[in-house]
Amino acid sequence: MNRIVATGMAVPPCVVDNHLLARCMTTSDEWIVQRTGIRERRVSPDTYRMLQKLAAAPDKKAFMKSVFAEGLDGSINSSLMVSDLALEAAEKAMKNAGIAPRDLDCIVEATTVPDYAYPHTGCVLQGRLGLTSTPAISLQQGCAGFVYGLAIADQMMRGGMYRQVLVVGAELVSSMFDYTDAGRDMAVLFADGAGAVVMRAEPGPRGVLSSHLHTDGTVLDGLSGELFGSSTYPVVSQRKIADDRARPRMNGRAVFTQAVRRFKEVVRECLAAHGLGIGDVDRFIFHQANLRILEAVADSLEIPADRVFKNVERYGNTAAASVPIALHEAVQAGLVRDGDLVLLVSFGTGFSWGATLIRW
Ligand code: ACO
Repeated sequence: MNRIVATGMAVPPCVVDNHLLARCMTTSDEWIVQRTGIRERRVSPDTYRMLQKLAAAPDKKAFMKSVFAEGLDGSINSSLMVSDLALEAAEKAMKNAGIAPRDLDCIVEATTVPDYAYPHTGCVLQGRLGLTSTPAISLQQGCAGFVYGLAIADQMMRGGMYRQVLVVGAELVSSMFDYTDAGRDMAVLFADGAGAVVMRAEPGPRGVLSSHLHTDGTVLDGLSGELFGSSTYPVVSQRKIADDRARPRMNGRAVFTQAVRRFKEVVRECLAAHGLGIGDVDRFIFHQANLRILEAVADSLEIPADRVFKNVERYGNTAAASVPIALHEAVQAGLVRDGDLVLLVSFGTGFSWGATLIRW
């Protein structure tokens, strides 16, 4: 079996509470908490500095426009990249596993907004770990990326190709959003962070029991971002920015409905594959999309509230990083113990979704 032998996480030190956001856009702590359950989130130092300035700016629309046109304080270089967070989480997971980067047979990494359009972030991470030939794979599955990554790692290990694999979900998405009224639907939800696990092939009954993956590529406008994509010619242009084509878009209600439906389907599918019921699962580690989605899924499947791990209140939605961060915190808190049955579930852009059942 292929076990998760160690976990790690990293979040930027800058904390943004709902009150700071309410000084940038028309919103309130009450609205955000009631609709999403989020009270605060971590963001990159650049986003934090930008938000402080935006909060103080008399003309917020004009200030945000100038940031998208010129960057911040005359610079367009980031002080923190997604590979920084991925590296920190990976190093912590490897330290907890008692291994060095050279002990890895492969790296599987998932990120929505990479450091560079190419090469991929797994490649950047591999180099920053001081490796020069270990294979690295990157996934662009959005919030479902980590669960997809675990499934791919598990299958490569089951096939005997690799023995020890690092799986990372890392996100630095806060720099994408418009923090004025124009982007408030998404800006209050998403945030930055990274989580990582070390998987090892070991004899015995503990490890990944099965993974169940799905995609529906017919509803692309539910949650999407053109950013540097080839949907425009040229890939990047002044006009792309002026026409607001470089920023993410979301149909919140469609995402909500689809997320609840797909979470429920894949939980049922996964448990049915093993002849198990909801009551057999000790801990549900769901993608921390927003509290209302988690509660709707738990209510409908009659999952006892104390079995569903939640930290969305403190981190917001960290996309591909959300499941490994939640898993790490649940393990650290003693909420995932040896022998427990743990179900990881995620849903994201695409839409893509999946579940992984683990005997811990
Ligand atoms: N503050 C105040 N008002 C806001 C904000 C905000 N931050 N954002 C949107 N609104 C306004 C809208 O402009 C709209 O106003 P209008 O009615 O005048 O047009 C109104 O609030 C929207 O109201 P509702 O649609 O009733 O709000 P709803 O209860 O649906 O909540 C939300 C919106 C939170 C986005 C909800 O649809 C939701 O949770 N969707 C899921 C989105 C999500 O979680 N996405 C990420 C998860 S999936 C993933 O991770 C891939």
